Amino acid sequence: MSLKNKTALITGASSGIGTACARTLANRGYSVIASGRNKQKIQSLAESIDGHFIVADLNDTNQIKKLFSEAGERIDILINSAGVAPKAPIINGELSNFRELLNVNVLALTLCCQFALKKFDPDKGGHIINLSSMSGHRVPPSGGFYAATKFAVKAVTEALRSELKASNNKTRVAMISPGFVDTPLLDLYFKGDKEKLKQLKNEIHMLDPINVAESVAHIIEAPSHVEIGDIQLRPTGQAI
Ligand SMILES: NC(=O)c1ccc[n+]([C@@H]2O[C@H](COP(=O)([O-])OP(=O)(O)OC[C@H]3O[C@@H](n4cnc5c(N)ncnc54)[C@H](OP(=O)(O)O)[C@@H]3O)[C@@H](O)[C@H]2O)c1
Repeated sequence: MSLKNKTALITGASSGIGTACARTLANRGYSVIASGRNKQKIQSLAESIDGHFIVADLNDTNQIKKLFSEAGERIDILINSAGVAPKAPIINGELSNFRELLNVNVLALTLCCQFALKKFDPDKGGHIINLSSMSGHRVPPSGGFYAATKFAVKAVTEALRSELKASNNKTRVAMISPGFVDTPLLDLYFKGDKEKLKQLKNEIHMLDPINVAESVAHIIEAPSHVEIGDIQLRPTGQAI
């Protein structure tokens, strides 16, 4: 199958890493379905890459169902890039932030995996890539509940892989665990501490979303007998 015939559905395509994945895969010949909440952004992205777009708020289970029913008969690749990172310390974080983190980073990602599996070729399987984080491997001091959700992404990804092997499903599953990537997400993560973010950006040459997108391409283009499980990708200057 040529790349042109492979379809990748990307959540969180309206910004940051998701947008970079959409552009990178389209440049390499994949058909791209870009999903996000912000219609204007995904529509103009889709137009610029000759792809499709579907608006969906992943906080809403019905919209997740609608996303996959509108995605067509068959997809080959799912990239779960949608994610949120409001400040959510365990001691005094707000319940609404905990809920949004769980809903988008864990539950929506899990449901998207479930729905995507039904759209993959039943014999050949497909490819799922979940955006985890270095915060899914160790808990930074300011990690709070965000880190809990990224540990959950690691568990979901590994559990899914085991279940697929047990049922002889050829779908390959991977996650990518970036350190700091220069996207709007960091403004949320460091909300209330803009100076800290400014200082970090001065000290560290952060990753560009394109660096993560190139790892995505590397994973999905690995030979079929090679399954990459996780890529940890940090800016060279990031200490932890
Ligand atoms: N940036 C980093 O340093 C970093 C590091 C490690 C891991 N990550 C992970 O990488 C992934 C992408 O992050 P990013 O840095 O590219 O962030 P970003 O630029 O803020 O993009 C986040 C994307 O998620 C979408 N999204 C958020 N809530 C949604 C919802 N309820 N329904 C549908 N879409 C929703 C946003 O859509 P709208 O634009 O419509 O809101 C946006 O497209 C996330 O899972 C994040 O945790 C990021």
